[in-house]
Amino acid sequence: MTLQFSLGTTSPETVDSPCVLVGVYEQGVLTSAAARVDSASEGLIKRQVESGDITGKAGSSMLLFAPPGVTAKRVLVIGLGAQKSMDGARFQKVNIEATRALGRLPVDAVVSYLTEVEVPGRSEAWRVRIAALASDFAAYRYTATFKPREKSKQTELAAITFSAGTDAQVGLDQASAIAEGVRFTRELANLPPNICNPAWIASQAQAFADSQDERTTCKVLDHVEMEQLGFGSLLAVARGSANKAKLVALEYKGGNAGDKPYAFVGKGVTFDSGGISLKPGAGMEEMKFDMGGAAGVLGAFIAAVKMGLKLNLVCVVPAVENMPDGDSYRPSDVLTSLSGLTIEVLNTDAEGRLILCDALTWTAKTFQPHTLIDAATLTGACVVALGKHASGLMSKHDDLAAELLAAGEETLDRAWRLPLWDDYQTQLDSGFADVANIGGKTAGAITAGCFLSRFTDGQRWAHLDIAGTAWDEGRKGLATGRPVALLAQWLLDRG
Ligand code: BES
Ligand code: MN
Ligand code: ZN
Repeated sequence: MTLQFSLGTTSPETVDSPCVLVGVYEQGVLTSAAARVDSASEGLIKRQVESGDITGKAGSSMLLFAPPGVTAKRVLVIGLGAQKSMDGARFQKVNIEATRALGRLPVDAVVSYLTEVEVPGRSEAWRVRIAALASDFAAYRYTATFKPREKSKQTELAAITFSAGTDAQVGLDQASAIAEGVRFTRELANLPPNICNPAWIASQAQAFADSQDERTTCKVLDHVEMEQLGFGSLLAVARGSANKAKLVALEYKGGNAGDKPYAFVGKGVTFDSGGISLKPGAGMEEMKFDMGGAAGVLGAFIAAVKMGLKLNLVCVVPAVENMPDGDSYRPSDVLTSLSGLTIEVLNTDAEGRLILCDALTWTAKTFQPHTLIDAATLTGACVVALGKHASGLMSKHDDLAAELLAAGEETLDRAWRLPLWDDYQTQLDSGFADVANIGGKTAGAITAGCFLSRFTDGQRWAHLDIAGTAWDEGRKGLATGRPVALLAQWLLDRG
């Protein structure tokens, strides 16, 4: 369950709540909310600043329990860093840290005055949206595959009221919808691949469609239907796994009947062992997140439906598992894709593009979309190039690229563009087929994009490589829910 969000304008010293959140900058600069609490409590905050107990360091927190002169039972003072360098990323960070600190307290509701903190170039509505999404992000817990615990006696955070005028309500409702999409994405991606296999993804998509009105429908193609249609590339990848491939297509008709839909396609490799070109053991467990693109586009779809956007949208997920087996596809195989183009397999670990090419062909043909966007954990090279902070964006359409970059900036779910110049295309030359599935040592993220471009001729298309951004690495690394916010914002901007 996502947090419940609401807006309020009661002053922090008189609001009746288990907890209020106020911010303090470095060098003892109090926000106006902190100043009000301070004067109501006869200088409690200033005294703690003077004693060095409250530093204002960004993300730090100090609990004041039952402060005199204040109605609320607790005041949690959050450090904001230096006032002069406050920016969007810091604002997001302090909201995340504030919610983490709240998670350690027995409070089920809080009133946050952090939304009053000025961020240069950003509106109040923006602050409310980012604060809501940051809070819900920090409140998420993965519990699905732990032994069920005794229902904890500790009260858990369930509701946040942000200090802001009613103008921010529309943005807050959108944030709730997007938070729901983000949660769906994170939960699906975090599940282990022995649970989250292609059939599981299909059933989750179907269940969502069933829970909505008739404007939302779901269709699932199984491997037999795909075989009949000629998905030769996608099915080759799936052949080594006992878990059969599925193609999931969600449709949302929120717009006019004649309007061309926007289309998302997401890479749904529920586990990527590399296949016969087997990956090394170390870190292979992270390849359960190789369906992050699928989870991301499904989450963005859910956000769009929950926002009730007045547009038509389709979301297509090719779902397979890439495994080594006696029946696996192999390096040197030549596949015939759905488009008719033949593909020489030089590495079975470059499987994402092989399922996406057929899914892109099918989506373009079936829905004739206005715009086609795919999201995929496609290349390690993209992580080398951009690290964990920006998704790689590739498109031959400057206007579409600009729209997506702007949506990323707005939501702090940023992308950075890489070129798709024809110069790179020759790296995909093959002596045995129309195209090879790998492009050699250099520019691996771009040649993967170039490969996809061969299957999106005539489409207004963009590709997001989210290999670095879809999850946090390490033992306890969780799915991030990216690029749900970016895609949802892009759709919002189209409305
Ligand atoms: N799923 C991987 C890409 C990946 C690797 C994502 C590491 C996140 C972290 C993809 O299927 C893959 O294996 N790509 C290969 C392509 C290569 C064989 C051309 C890669 O990046 O090494
Ligand atoms: Mn791979
Ligand atoms: Zn992969």
